[in-house]
Amino acid sequence: MEEIADKITYLELIADGIFTSEFTAALFLPHTNIHNFPSVKSLLARQGKGELPKPGAGYFNISRIEAAMSKTIAIAGKGGTGKTTIAALLIELLTEKGAVLAIDGDPSANLHMALGLTLEETVGGVREGMLDRKAVERMGIPRPNYMELRIQEALVESPRVDLLAMGRPEGPGCYCAANNWLRTSIDRLADNYDYVVIDNEAGMEHISRQTTRDVDILLLTSDPTIRGVSAAVRMKDLIGELRTHVERIALVVNRVGDGLPSEIERAITDANLELIGVLPEDPDMMKLEVMGTPLTKLPPESPLRKGVSEIAKRLGLR
Ligand SMILES: Nc1ncnc2c1ncn2[C@@H]1O[C@H](COP(=O)(O)OP(=O)(O)O)[C@@H](O)[C@H]1O
Ligand SMILES: [Mg+2]
Repeated sequence: MEEIADKITYLELIADGIFTSEFTAALFLPHTNIHNFPSVKSLLARQGKGELPKPGAGYFNISRIEAAMSKTIAIAGKGGTGKTTIAALLIELLTEKGAVLAIDGDPSANLHMALGLTLEETVGGVREGMLDRKAVERMGIPRPNYMELRIQEALVESPRVDLLAMGRPEGPGCYCAANNWLRTSIDRLADNYDYVVIDNEAGMEHISRQTTRDVDILLLTSDPTIRGVSAAVRMKDLIGELRTHVERIALVVNRVGDGLPSEIERAITDANLELIGVLPEDPDMMKLEVMGTPLTKLPPESPLRKGVSEIAKRLGLR
C-alpha cells in the first residue's frame, strides 16, 4: 500500500522534471505577464531564444526558460586521457562568464581536488542513507523532500563554482523511487546555473541514469593512440542508446607531441568525428600532480590552459 502511495504521489508529480515544470507552468503562466519579470525577459532576449510573448499573451513554456538558463557540457573518454584535467580548466574558464555547477560522475571522485575544493558527501552516500527507511521517517518530512535537502548538503559551494560528486552508482538494494527523486533533485539544482560541466567516469551510462538533462556538448577525449580514438568512437555510437539527448559531439586529442600521426587522423575522419582541438603535453602538470596542487594553479601562459581556452572558443563557449 505504502509503495503504491509513493508511486502515485511522487512518480507522477515530482519524479519527472519536465512534467513538473509543465504542470507548474500550466498553473501559473497563463496568468503571468513575462514583462513583469525583467531579468527573465532580458535573459531570454540575450540568449536569442525567439520571440517574447506580448503582454498577457498567455501560456509561456517554462522549459524554454530553463533551456535559456543552463548549458550542459559532458566530458567522456578512455581513462587517463585528461577528462578531469580538461573539465577543471574548462570550468575555470566558464566561471568568468557565469555560475557553474561541476558534476563529478566518476565514482573515484577527484574533480574536487583538481578544482581545489573539499568533498565530504556524495550523491551515492545520500542514496544509501535513504535505504534506512525508519531513520528517514523519524525526520518527519516526506522522503523526496528529505532527499532534496541532503543533496543540497552534499553540494560543495565555493564563490566561483559549486560541485556535486555522484559517488558510487546504485547498488542492488536500491529502490527505484529513490532514484527518481534523486534525478529530480539534481535536475532542479542544475537549473540554477548558467553552465553544468559533467566529468564522467569513461562513458556516460552512469550519469545518464541520474539526470534527465540534455547535453549541449559532449566532449570526447582521447590520447594520440588508436585505442583511445576507438574508445571515443564507441562512446559516440553508444550515445544513441542512452536516454540523454546530445546536441553536439566533438573530439579532443590530448598529450600530443609533434602533430597528430596520420593513422590517428584517418581514424578520426573515418569515424566521422569532429576534431575540435589538439592539446599538448604540459610539463607543468607533473609538478602539480606531485605536489597535489589544484590544476587551476597551472600558470596562465600554460600551453594546455591556452589550448582549452581555444577549444572553448571554437565551441562557442566564450
Ligand atoms: N596535456 C597533459 N600534459 C601532461 N599531463 C597530462 C595532460 N593531460 C592529463 N595529464 C595527466 O594525465 C593523468 C590523467 O589525467 P586525468 O585528467 O585525470 O584523466 P581522466 O580524468 O581522463 O582519467 C593525470 O596525471 C594528469 O595530470
Ligand atoms: Mg578523471
